[in-house]
Amino acid sequence: MLGQASAITADSGIEYRLCAIEDIDFLAGEFEVVTSSLAFHYVERFDLVCQRVHRCLVASGAFVFSVEHPMFTALATQEWCYGSKGERLHWPVDNYLQEGPRQTQWLADHVVKYHRTVATYVNTLIDSGFRIAKLLEPEPPPEMQNEPDGQDDRRRPTFLLIAAVKTPTP
Ligand SMILES: C[S@@+](CC[C@H](N)C(=O)[O-])C[C@H]1O[C@@H](n2cnc3c(N)ncnc32)[C@H](O)[C@@H]1O
Repeated sequence: MLGQASAITADSGIEYRLCAIEDIDFLAGEFEVVTSSLAFHYVERFDLVCQRVHRCLVASGAFVFSVEHPMFTALATQEWCYGSKGERLHWPVDNYLQEGPRQTQWLADHVVKYHRTVATYVNTLIDSGFRIAKLLEPEPPPEMQNEPDGQDDRRRPTFLLIAAVKTPTP
């Protein structure tokens, strides 16, 4: 992914690093914006991520990210319930309040995702010194709604997007 990213961008201001999210260790106040796309549900300690991001942001800096929606990560199967004719009956949600690892098959065997509730995402941010600016559970854009899963992807949220702002330290 880093190879692909550097092949399609040519901005000398970009520095690519191969590094686990858990190991980020940037200077205090180094960034105005920190963003992440669909990665934090692979990280066990979201509270530590929030603390480190908070530290490396300037005052009023933005923290914007997406994760798989907790309705998606609650059950490791991540699959519809089907009827006798193979029709999709409903999306199952169970053990929603039992946070922690889920052994999934996601493009490969034994992929561990970490399920957290929406409340945990929101309250961990608040407890780490952020204000929630926006929370989205987007549906597919119109051009994707005629694709095979397009309508079914409107039956439950797939993604949770949060924009948060660093609040002044009291
Ligand atoms: C679903 S992909 C998202 C990729 C890309 N950000 C996007 O939105 O298309 C999840 C990515 O998170 C990375 N990842 C998972 N756990 C990670 C961790 N602990 N530290 C850094 N990256 C991680 C995986 O290697 C993978 O590239």
